[in-house]
Amino acid sequence: QSYLEEINAFVPASGEEAEQFRIRFLGRKGIIPALFDTFKSLPPEEKKVLGKSLNVLKQAAAEKVETFKAGAGRASGQGKQEDLSLPGEPSPTGGRHPISLVEKEITAIFSRLGFNVAEGPEIEDDWHNFSALNFPAEHPARDMQDTFFIRRDPADPKADMALRTHTSSVQVRLMENGKPPFRAIMPGRVYRNEAISARAHCFFHQVEGLYVDEHVSFADLKQTLFYFVQELFGEGTGVRFRPSYFPFTEPSAEMDISCTICKGSGCTMCKQSGWVEILGCGMVDPNVLKNCGVDPERYSGFAFGMGIERITNLKYQVTDLRLFSENDVRFLSQFQSEI
Ligand code: PHE
Repeated sequence: QSYLEEINAFVPASGEEAEQFRIRFLGRKGIIPALFDTFKSLPPEEKKVLGKSLNVLKQAAAEKVETFKAGAGRASGQGKQEDLSLPGEPSPTGGRHPISLVEKEITAIFSRLGFNVAEGPEIEDDWHNFSALNFPAEHPARDMQDTFFIRRDPADPKADMALRTHTSSVQVRLMENGKPPFRAIMPGRVYRNEAISARAHCFFHQVEGLYVDEHVSFADLKQTLFYFVQELFGEGTGVRFRPSYFPFTEPSAEMDISCTICKGSGCTMCKQSGWVEILGCGMVDPNVLKNCGVDPERYSGFAFGMGIERITNLKYQVTDLRLFSENDVRFLSQFQSEI
Protein backbone atom coordinates (compact mmCIF):
# COMPACT_ATOMS: atom_id res chain seq x y z
CA GLN A 1 0.00 0.00 0.00
CA SER A 2 2.76 2.42 0.84
CA TYR A 3 4.37 1.63 -2.52
CA LEU A 4 1.21 2.82 -4.27
CA GLU A 5 1.32 6.07 -2.31
CA GLU A 6 4.93 6.57 -3.26
CA ILE A 7 4.15 5.93 -6.92
CA ASN A 8 1.20 8.29 -6.97
CA ALA A 9 3.14 11.04 -5.26
CA PHE A 10 6.10 10.74 -7.59
CA VAL A 11 6.72 13.76 -9.89
CA PRO A 12 9.94 13.28 -11.88
CA ALA A 13 11.99 16.44 -12.37
CA SER A 14 14.14 15.01 -15.10
CA GLY A 15 14.38 12.14 -17.54
CA GLU A 16 17.07 10.64 -15.35
CA GLU A 17 14.80 10.63 -12.30
CA ALA A 18 12.01 9.07 -14.31
CA GLU A 19 14.37 6.39 -15.55
CA GLN A 20 15.57 5.62 -12.02
CA PHE A 21 11.96 5.39 -10.96
CA ARG A 22 11.25 2.96 -13.81
CA ILE A 23 14.22 0.77 -12.88
CA ARG A 24 13.31 0.81 -9.20
CA PHE A 25 9.74 -0.34 -9.72
CA LEU A 26 9.51 -1.95 -13.15
CA GLY A 27 13.08 -3.02 -14.01
CA ARG A 28 13.88 -6.73 -14.26
CA LYS A 29 15.15 -6.76 -10.66
CA GLY A 30 12.68 -4.07 -9.57
CA ILE A 31 10.15 -4.09 -6.78
CA ILE A 32 7.08 -4.99 -8.78
CA PRO A 33 8.54 -8.02 -10.64
CA ALA A 34 9.92 -9.21 -7.28
CA LEU A 35 6.42 -8.93 -5.73
CA PHE A 36 4.99 -10.93 -8.64
CA ASP A 37 7.62 -13.61 -7.97
CA THR A 38 6.63 -13.93 -4.35
CA PHE A 39 2.98 -13.82 -5.37
CA LYS A 40 3.46 -17.00 -7.48
CA SER A 41 4.27 -19.07 -4.42
CA LEU A 42 1.30 -17.87 -2.34
CA PRO A 43 -1.69 -20.08 -1.52
CA PRO A 44 -4.71 -19.47 -3.83
CA GLU A 45 -6.87 -17.62 -1.21
CA GLU A 46 -4.14 -15.03 -0.69
CA LYS A 47 -3.54 -14.74 -4.44
CA LYS A 48 -7.13 -13.59 -4.92
CA VAL A 49 -6.75 -10.69 -2.49
CA LEU A 50 -3.25 -9.63 -3.46
CA GLY A 51 -3.44 -10.12 -7.24
CA LYS A 52 -5.75 -7.18 -7.72
CA SER A 53 -3.67 -4.67 -5.74
CA LEU A 54 -0.49 -5.89 -7.45
CA ASN A 55 -1.98 -5.16 -10.85
CA VAL A 56 -3.12 -1.73 -9.67
CA LEU A 57 0.42 -1.04 -8.50
CA LYS A 58 1.98 -2.16 -11.77
CA GLN A 59 -0.42 -0.08 -13.83
CA ALA A 60 0.13 3.03 -11.71
CA ALA A 61 3.91 2.78 -12.13
CA ALA A 62 3.66 2.12 -15.90
CA GLU A 63 1.31 5.08 -16.33
CA LYS A 64 3.72 7.40 -14.51
CA VAL A 65 6.55 6.41 -16.86
CA GLU A 66 4.29 6.81 -19.93
CA THR A 67 3.03 10.26 -18.91
CA PHE A 68 6.55 11.46 -18.37
CA LYS A 69 7.65 10.20 -21.79
CA ALA A 70 4.70 11.90 -23.49
CA GLY A 71 5.42 15.15 -21.70
CA ALA A 72 9.20 15.07 -22.25
CA GLY A 73 10.49 17.80 -24.49
CA ARG A 74 7.75 20.19 -23.51
CA ALA A 75 8.61 22.86 -20.96
CA SER A 76 6.14 21.94 -18.26
CA GLY A 77 5.13 18.69 -19.81
CA GLN A 78 4.55 16.16 -17.07
CA GLY A 79 1.06 14.89 -16.94
CA LYS A 80 -0.41 17.74 -19.00
CA GLN A 81 -2.77 17.27 -21.91
CA GLU A 82 -1.34 18.32 -25.25
CA ASP A 83 -2.88 21.49 -26.66
CA LEU A 84 -3.92 20.34 -30.11
CA SER A 85 -4.84 23.86 -31.18
CA LEU A 86 -1.20 25.06 -30.98
CA PRO A 87 0.41 25.82 -34.36
CA GLY A 88 2.83 23.13 -35.54
CA GLU A 89 6.59 23.44 -35.60
CA PRO A 90 7.54 25.20 -38.84
CA SER A 91 9.65 22.99 -41.09
CA PRO A 92 11.95 25.12 -43.21
CA THR A 93 11.87 24.31 -46.91
CA GLY A 94 14.69 24.83 -49.37
CA GLY A 95 14.35 26.92 -52.50
CA ARG A 96 15.86 27.05 -55.93
CA HIS A 97 19.20 28.74 -56.43
CA PRO A 98 18.64 32.15 -58.08
CA ILE A 99 20.65 31.05 -61.13
CA SER A 100 18.40 28.01 -61.57
CA LEU A 101 15.32 30.17 -61.04
CA VAL A 102 16.28 32.56 -63.80
CA GLU A 103 17.45 29.76 -66.09
CA LYS A 104 14.06 28.13 -65.64
CA GLU A 105 12.30 31.38 -66.46
CA ILE A 106 14.39 31.89 -69.59
CA THR A 107 13.82 28.34 -70.87
CA ALA A 108 10.09 28.70 -70.18
CA ILE A 109 9.85 31.86 -72.30
CA PHE A 110 11.69 30.27 -75.22
CA SER A 111 9.75 27.04 -74.96
CA ARG A 112 6.61 29.10 -75.64
CA LEU A 113 8.28 30.02 -78.94
CA GLY A 114 8.98 26.38 -79.75
CA PHE A 115 12.62 26.17 -78.61
CA ASN A 116 13.84 22.85 -77.16
CA VAL A 117 16.58 22.59 -74.55
CA ALA A 118 19.90 21.04 -75.63
CA GLU A 119 22.89 20.19 -73.45
CA GLY A 120 26.50 19.20 -74.01
CA PRO A 121 29.73 18.37 -72.16
CA GLU A 122 31.66 20.93 -70.10
CA ILE A 123 35.01 19.53 -71.24
CA GLU A 124 35.25 20.23 -74.94
CA ASP A 125 37.67 19.58 -77.76
CA ASP A 126 39.14 22.29 -79.92
CA TRP A 127 36.74 21.57 -82.76
CA HIS A 128 33.47 22.12 -80.88
CA ASN A 129 34.59 25.07 -78.78
CA PHE A 130 36.63 26.89 -81.43
CA SER A 131 37.44 25.52 -84.87
CA ALA A 132 33.94 24.61 -86.04
CA LEU A 133 32.83 28.04 -84.83
CA ASN A 134 35.20 29.74 -87.23
CA PHE A 135 37.97 30.58 -84.78
CA PRO A 136 41.06 30.02 -86.97
CA ALA A 137 44.05 28.44 -85.18
CA GLU A 138 46.23 31.08 -83.50
CA HIS A 139 43.59 33.72 -84.21
CA PRO A 140 43.49 36.43 -81.53
CA ALA A 141 39.74 35.91 -81.26
CA ARG A 142 40.57 32.89 -79.11
CA ASP A 143 41.98 35.30 -76.59
CA MET A 144 38.60 37.04 -76.30
CA GLN A 145 37.78 34.13 -74.05
CA ASP A 146 40.55 33.35 -71.58
CA THR A 147 40.53 29.61 -71.88
CA PHE A 148 41.34 26.96 -69.27
CA PHE A 149 43.14 24.40 -71.37
CA ILE A 150 43.26 20.83 -70.14
CA ARG A 151 45.56 19.61 -72.87
CA ARG A 152 47.56 21.89 -75.11
CA ASP A 153 50.13 20.91 -77.70
CA PRO A 154 51.40 23.73 -79.92
CA ALA A 155 52.43 21.13 -82.50
CA ASP A 156 48.92 19.70 -82.68
CA PRO A 157 46.34 22.37 -81.79
CA LYS A 158 43.50 20.19 -83.07
CA ALA A 159 44.05 17.87 -80.11
CA ASP A 160 43.54 20.66 -77.56
CA MET A 161 41.02 19.99 -74.82
CA ALA A 162 39.54 22.77 -72.71
CA LEU A 163 36.76 23.66 -70.31
CA ARG A 164 34.17 25.12 -72.65
CA THR A 165 34.28 28.90 -72.77
CA HIS A 166 30.73 29.19 -74.08
CA THR A 167 27.78 26.93 -74.80
CA SER A 168 28.10 27.67 -78.53
CA SER A 169 29.84 24.28 -78.58
CA VAL A 170 26.42 22.72 -78.03
CA GLN A 171 25.14 24.46 -81.18
CA VAL A 172 27.84 22.65 -83.15
CA ARG A 173 26.95 19.29 -81.60
CA LEU A 174 23.25 19.87 -82.25
CA MET A 175 23.76 20.67 -85.95
CA GLU A 176 26.26 17.85 -86.48
CA ASN A 177 23.86 15.31 -85.05
CA GLY A 178 20.60 16.35 -86.68
CA LYS A 179 18.85 17.84 -89.66
CA PRO A 180 17.39 21.37 -89.93
CA PRO A 181 15.24 23.01 -88.80
CA PHE A 182 16.96 23.56 -85.43
CA ARG A 183 15.28 25.59 -82.74
CA ALA A 184 16.93 25.12 -79.37
CA ILE A 185 18.41 26.90 -76.41
CA MET A 186 21.47 25.66 -74.55
CA PRO A 187 21.81 26.49 -70.88
CA GLY A 188 24.96 25.48 -69.05
CA ARG A 189 28.07 26.31 -67.08
CA VAL A 190 31.08 27.82 -68.85
CA TYR A 191 34.62 28.61 -67.69
CA ARG A 192 37.02 31.46 -68.30
CA ASN A 193 40.38 32.12 -66.79
CA GLU A 194 39.62 35.39 -65.04
CA ALA A 195 40.53 36.71 -61.61
CA ILE A 196 37.57 36.38 -59.25
CA SER A 197 36.01 39.70 -58.25
CA ALA A 198 32.57 41.21 -57.76
CA ARG A 199 32.28 41.61 -61.53
CA ALA A 200 34.08 38.54 -62.91
CA HIS A 201 34.35 34.87 -62.04
CA CYS A 202 36.21 31.87 -63.39
CA PHE A 203 32.92 30.16 -64.17
CA PHE A 204 29.45 31.39 -64.93
CA HIS A 205 26.29 30.26 -66.69
CA GLN A 206 25.03 30.95 -70.16
CA VAL A 207 21.94 30.39 -72.19
CA GLU A 208 22.61 30.35 -75.89
CA GLY A 209 19.99 29.98 -78.59
CA LEU A 210 20.01 28.78 -82.16
CA TYR A 211 17.37 28.92 -84.87
CA VAL A 212 18.23 27.49 -88.27
CA ASP A 213 15.69 26.98 -91.04
CA GLU A 214 14.95 28.18 -94.57
CA HIS A 215 14.52 31.97 -94.82
CA VAL A 216 15.47 32.89 -91.25
CA SER A 217 16.33 36.61 -91.25
CA PHE A 218 17.73 39.26 -88.95
CA ALA A 219 14.16 40.49 -88.50
CA ASP A 220 13.32 37.13 -86.91
CA LEU A 221 16.29 37.53 -84.59
CA LYS A 222 15.20 40.99 -83.49
CA GLN A 223 11.57 40.04 -82.96
CA THR A 224 12.45 36.90 -80.99
CA LEU A 225 14.80 38.75 -78.65
CA PHE A 226 12.40 41.68 -78.32
CA TYR A 227 9.63 39.29 -77.25
CA PHE A 228 12.02 37.59 -74.83
CA VAL A 229 12.94 40.87 -73.11
CA GLN A 230 9.30 41.97 -72.78
CA GLU A 231 8.43 38.63 -71.19
CA LEU A 232 11.39 38.53 -68.82
CA PHE A 233 11.69 42.17 -67.75
CA GLY A 234 8.16 43.44 -68.41
CA GLU A 235 6.31 45.20 -71.17
CA GLY A 236 7.90 48.45 -72.29
CA THR A 237 11.53 47.50 -71.53
CA GLY A 238 13.66 49.27 -74.12
CA VAL A 239 15.84 47.27 -76.50
CA ARG A 240 18.67 48.42 -78.77
CA PHE A 241 21.17 46.62 -81.00
CA ARG A 242 24.77 47.68 -81.52
CA PRO A 243 27.05 46.26 -84.23
CA SER A 244 29.65 43.87 -82.82
CA TYR A 245 31.95 41.02 -83.79
CA PHE A 246 31.94 37.28 -83.14
CA PRO A 247 33.85 34.80 -85.32
CA PHE A 248 30.77 32.60 -85.69
CA THR A 249 28.14 35.17 -86.66
CA GLU A 250 27.93 37.67 -89.49
CA PRO A 251 26.57 40.25 -89.06
CA SER A 252 26.93 40.32 -85.28
CA ALA A 253 25.37 42.55 -82.67
CA GLU A 254 25.17 43.16 -78.98
CA MET A 255 21.81 43.84 -77.43
CA ASP A 256 21.22 46.36 -74.65
CA ILE A 257 18.09 46.80 -72.60
CA SER A 258 17.00 49.94 -70.81
CA CYS A 259 18.42 49.71 -67.30
CA THR A 260 15.95 47.88 -65.07
CA ILE A 261 17.66 49.12 -61.92
CA CYS A 262 17.60 52.90 -62.32
CA LYS A 263 14.93 52.99 -65.06
CA GLY A 264 17.21 55.08 -67.20
CA SER A 265 18.09 57.74 -64.67
CA GLY A 266 21.68 56.53 -64.31
CA CYS A 267 23.33 54.06 -61.90
CA THR A 268 26.54 52.02 -61.59
CA MET A 269 24.99 48.99 -63.29
CA CYS A 270 24.51 50.93 -66.55
CA LYS A 271 27.45 53.24 -65.90
CA GLN A 272 25.06 56.21 -65.93
CA SER A 273 24.09 55.48 -69.55
CA GLY A 274 20.61 54.08 -68.93
CA TRP A 275 21.44 50.98 -71.02
CA VAL A 276 22.87 47.57 -70.04
CA GLU A 277 24.27 45.01 -72.43
CA ILE A 278 22.67 41.60 -71.89
CA LEU A 279 23.62 39.44 -74.87
CA GLY A 280 25.57 38.86 -78.06
CA CYS A 281 23.85 37.69 -81.21
CA GLY A 282 23.99 37.51 -84.98
CA MET A 283 23.29 35.52 -88.12
CA VAL A 284 25.13 32.19 -88.05
CA ASP A 285 28.18 32.50 -90.33
CA PRO A 286 27.74 30.33 -93.47
CA ASN A 287 31.14 28.79 -92.67
CA VAL A 288 29.82 27.51 -89.37
CA LEU A 289 26.77 25.97 -91.04
CA LYS A 290 29.10 24.27 -93.55
CA ASN A 291 31.39 23.00 -90.77
CA CYS A 292 28.39 21.43 -89.07
CA GLY A 293 27.03 19.75 -92.20
CA VAL A 294 24.21 22.23 -92.91
CA ASP A 295 23.83 23.58 -96.46
CA PRO A 296 24.33 27.38 -96.23
CA GLU A 297 22.76 27.88 -99.67
CA ARG A 298 19.49 26.52 -98.44
CA TYR A 299 19.46 27.37 -94.75
CA SER A 300 20.18 30.43 -92.67
CA GLY A 301 19.90 31.02 -88.97
CA PHE A 302 20.47 33.22 -86.00
CA ALA A 303 22.20 32.60 -82.70
CA PHE A 304 22.46 34.47 -79.44
CA GLY A 305 24.11 34.00 -76.08
CA MET A 306 23.63 35.58 -72.67
CA GLY A 307 25.09 35.24 -69.18
CA ILE A 308 22.51 34.10 -66.63
CA GLU A 309 24.35 35.87 -63.80
CA ARG A 310 24.04 39.21 -65.57
CA ILE A 311 20.31 38.69 -66.09
CA THR A 312 19.90 37.66 -62.45
CA ASN A 313 21.80 40.76 -61.30
CA LEU A 314 19.38 42.91 -63.24
CA LYS A 315 16.27 41.08 -62.11
CA TYR A 316 17.21 40.82 -58.44
CA GLN A 317 19.70 43.67 -58.08
CA VAL A 318 22.57 41.47 -56.96
CA THR A 319 25.78 43.46 -57.28
CA ASP A 320 28.44 40.88 -56.37
CA LEU A 321 28.89 37.83 -58.60
CA ARG A 322 30.66 35.88 -55.87
CA LEU A 323 27.42 35.55 -53.90
CA PHE A 324 26.16 33.06 -56.47
CA SER A 325 28.80 30.45 -55.66
CA GLU A 326 29.36 30.95 -51.94
CA ASN A 327 26.14 29.23 -50.89
CA ASP A 328 25.53 31.54 -47.96
CA VAL A 329 22.01 30.66 -46.81
CA ARG A 330 21.40 34.28 -45.77
CA PHE A 331 21.68 35.13 -49.46
CA LEU A 332 19.99 32.03 -50.87
CA SER A 333 17.00 32.12 -48.52
CA GLN A 334 15.97 35.47 -50.01
CA PHE A 335 14.93 33.62 -53.15
CA GLN A 336 11.70 31.74 -52.62
CA SER A 337 9.99 29.90 -55.39
CA GLU A 338 7.48 27.26 -56.19
CA ILE A 339 9.43 24.11 -56.98
N1 PHE B 1 29.29 32.76 -77.50
C1 PHE B 1 29.25 34.19 -77.28
C2 PHE B 1 29.92 34.48 -75.94
O1 PHE B 1 30.13 33.59 -75.18
C3 PHE B 1 27.85 34.73 -77.25
C4 PHE B 1 27.18 34.60 -78.59
C5 PHE B 1 26.45 33.49 -78.89
C6 PHE B 1 27.28 35.62 -79.53
C7 PHE B 1 25.81 33.37 -80.12
C8 PHE B 1 26.65 35.52 -80.72
C9 PHE B 1 25.93 34.42 -81.03
O2 PHE B 1 30.26 35.60 -75.65
